[in-house]
Amino acid sequence: MIAVRPLRLALPALLLAIAASGCAGTHAGRSPAKAIPAGHVGSLVNYGREILDDTPKYAKGYVTADMSCQACHLNSGTKSRGGTLVGLYAQFPQWNGRAHRVIALQDRIAECFLYSMNGRPPAYQSKEMEALVAYIAWLSRGTPVGAKPNPAVRIARFAPPGAPSALRGTQIYAQKCEMCHRANGAGVSGRYPPLWGPKSFNNGAGMHKLAMMAGFVKYNMPANAPGTLTKQQSYDVSAYVLSHSRPKFNKNELVTFPAQRAGYF
Ligand code: HEC
Ligand code: HEC
Repeated sequence: MIAVRPLRLALPALLLAIAASGCAGTHAGRSPAKAIPAGHVGSLVNYGREILDDTPKYAKGYVTADMSCQACHLNSGTKSRGGTLVGLYAQFPQWNGRAHRVIALQDRIAECFLYSMNGRPPAYQSKEMEALVAYIAWLSRGTPVGAKPNPAVRIARFAPPGAPSALRGTQIYAQKCEMCHRANGAGVSGRYPPLWGPKSFNNGAGMHKLAMMAGFVKYNMPANAPGTLTKQQSYDVSAYVLSHSRPKFNKNELVTFPAQRAGYF
């Protein structure tokens, strides 16, 4: 019943990720960290932010992708159009079309572990999962429960002006992406996340959808000049990125969680 894939984690990659701690100054505003309250809840909230910012270090053993949550949830999950998680806690429980059932926030976080991080979710009552939930809850303070998601802050969705061309995307990639994400798409461990290959997200990930990546790229990439690509260029370069191979998600795999010990009395 328990079918958990063996997880590999390269130690050098991990050490580099620790050394670089958060992608070369691309995260200007980490202001939320300043206001995290003191005390038990505050330290759990802070731990959640650390997991988001440096997943290979703080959720070691749960991920095989060589990147952190903040590779797609920018500025510790606070950037509009950049995978913001602000206010999200108020939207759960919610209907999930992929799972065909109503899910909790833990279930949604688990999806990103399975697909985007090509890993295995921490048990729901583990410290890692509780910390991530605590951080997102803290980011959502003040948002009324049940508030509708604001489409203006989500990853942008727009149709391609013309048919996307991976061929045109090849040139854009060489000029505007390769310097960081490298010609082989592997990036630089701990600095620039991989866009394809064995250490990238798997084919079940939201980012694996062409429209999702184009919307993300349009407002956030290239990281040294976000907003400079046209919609068409965003689609073309994303089509090129997604034309490469990456890990496959085995959707028939059953994911189960070991029970955690708890000392209540
Ligand atoms: C490869 C990119 C990528 C990585 C890495 C990633 N995510 Fe995501 N995540 C996404 C995308 C894309 C969405 C869908 C956003 C949307 O629907 O607008 C998403 C959605 C989510 C949501 C639901 C947000 C919403 O607005 O409904 C949560 C919660 C989440 N991710 C948590 C995490 C956590 C925690 C990690 C790290 C363990 C992580 N993600 C890593 C790309 C990623
Ligand atoms: C100056 C370096 C730099 C350049 C140039 C750059 N990126 Fe990125 N990219 C990053 C960093 C760093 C991240 C992680 C998020 C962050 O910290 O901003 C990232 C994240 C991403 C992600 C989400 C994470 C992942 O690995 O899937 C995608 C997709 C992406 N970049 C695509 C592109 C594309 C396409 C281009 C060219 C148009 C580009 N990037 C140019 C540095 C760069």
